[in-house]
Amino acid sequence: MKGIILAGGSGSRLYPLTFVTSKQLLPVYDKPMIYYPLSVLMMAKIRDILIISTPTDLPRFKALLGDGSKFGVHLSYAKQDKPEGLAQAFVIGEKFIGKDACALILGDNIFYGSGLVAHLTHSVNRAERHNRSTIYGYYVKDPTRYGVIEIGEHDTPLNIEEKPTHPKSNYCVTGLYFYPSDVVKMAKKVKKSKRGEYEITALNNMYINAKRTHLTLLGRGYSWLDTGTPDALNDASDYVKMIEEHQGIKMMCPEEIAYINKWINKKTLIEIAKSMSKNDYGEHLMNVAKGKILYASSIINEK
Ligand code: TTP
Repeated sequence: MKGIILAGGSGSRLYPLTFVTSKQLLPVYDKPMIYYPLSVLMMAKIRDILIISTPTDLPRFKALLGDGSKFGVHLSYAKQDKPEGLAQAFVIGEKFIGKDACALILGDNIFYGSGLVAHLTHSVNRAERHNRSTIYGYYVKDPTRYGVIEIGEHDTPLNIEEKPTHPKSNYCVTGLYFYPSDVVKMAKKVKKSKRGEYEITALNNMYINAKRTHLTLLGRGYSWLDTGTPDALNDASDYVKMIEEHQGIKMMCPEEIAYINKWINKKTLIEIAKSMSKNDYGEHLMNVAKGKILYASSIINEK
């Protein structure tokens, strides 16, 4: 299974914040935004990850994340010359994906909740073994702003409609998708929409029409946040701060996930922790290394 983080786009709703930096490098409380989607892919046990961004921003991502070895993963990079839509990720990533199944996560999406790992594991199995895609649905108050899922019996997805005037449900599609190995072939069939983009909704509807999509509904125990506007970005930071302060531990630290997955050893984790020892992040990693946070591994390893 491969994974792609789509971290390009123009970030125009965040201007002037994003005039000279990428949205996905901005802080969400105590870590760069891209750490959150990277952590999700790592929780799905995906180690081969492609980061797609603009030609201008790509070097900054490389400077931050390198080849991924500090997180026990292998990172590759590719540019998207123009933000021409999410489905383009699979055409840009054709060589990287090869004959594998592939997950896509948007670089500005944050997912959190107990049981997430089990959902991710099922999604990987479904794509690799059953040739089926998975989309994640989330209840929203104002569905007209999103890709909205029409849902049939037994939570079967029937269709997705982009920003509908008369939404068929309150469930929208989040920025996390798992596809089987024919995704590149399918993505190449997507034609540009009226707004000039290769829409992920068109790709998802192809799988839905072929009855090859599973809809995972993220219920009350989950949070899904996107960070595309100043309010949403600020809310996301507040959310992370509140959870981390209440629980006394940090969320979505790729170094911690790498250690729990046994992709980096204790010595490496301690070295990383020491390099940040004067702050809470480093202290958290040190506590993980010392075995103080006992439930961390059970969260990551739940089936
Ligand atoms: P959006 O938030 O829809 O777009 P954007 O980031 O360009 O922001 P704005 O609307 O404020 O101008 O994109 C969702 C995510 O997908 C985000 O992480 C950026 C990324 N993206 C790409 O990498 N390439 C693309 O072609 C598009 C459309 C989005």
